[in-house]
Amino acid sequence: MIVSPSVLSCDFGNIERDVKMLHSSDAQWIHIDVMDGVFVPNISFGFPVLEVIRKHTDKVLDVHLMIENPDNYLVNFKNSGSDILTVHIEACRHLNRTISAIKELGMKAGVALNPHTPVSALEEVIKDLDLALIMSVNPGFGGQKFIHSSIDKVKKLAQLIQEKKSNAIIEVDGGVNLETGLELKKAGAQALVAGSFVFGSANPVETITRLNNL
Ligand code: DX5
Ligand code: ZN
Repeated sequence: MIVSPSVLSCDFGNIERDVKMLHSSDAQWIHIDVMDGVFVPNISFGFPVLEVIRKHTDKVLDVHLMIENPDNYLVNFKNSGSDILTVHIEACRHLNRTISAIKELGMKAGVALNPHTPVSALEEVIKDLDLALIMSVNPGFGGQKFIHSSIDKVKKLAQLIQEKKSNAIIEVDGGVNLETGLELKKAGAQALVAGSFVFGSANPVETITRLNNL
């Protein structure tokens, strides 16, 4: 299982320490939540913070854009060190164009679905994707309750990926812990984002290992 701890739940006064902790852990990716206060009702952080994270780790930076008009910033995200760039389907009018632009810049392309968006919305693009992200909470905040119908969406996505012979990785984000993580794994998830569960635990490094071994 790929584990992608979310820095949204880290201690921003000690971001260097926390990124170094993630770097030393079994986490394969580091999840970075960018929020603009328009697409979601919260604002997180932007390029300077991403650059600080990049400076302290060479792990895969898994960047989740919860912003309107992501096309305007693709180059900035590349230059700030993003490896995987995931946009929301609900924020993209010309999704095919956006996916191509992300790949042309040398990043892996991901598309995220809000809880209300059906998996079928990915039918025409799944073959072009490196990653498909199922949101198992409404995006905007860490520490929310897992929406259980997400399990079914993961199963549907796994089926779509098989049908279309896509190589997209299935990632799930929101309310992940050891219990929901295990259910998600059984349903077909290959990457799990975890914020509050990792940073709220007594030993984050050990928690990451446990998720990794699910
Ligand atoms: C929510 C973000 C998540 C968040 C997950 O909008 O996309 O990545 O950090 O936090 P937890 O794991 O606490 O639900
Ligand atoms: Zn996220």
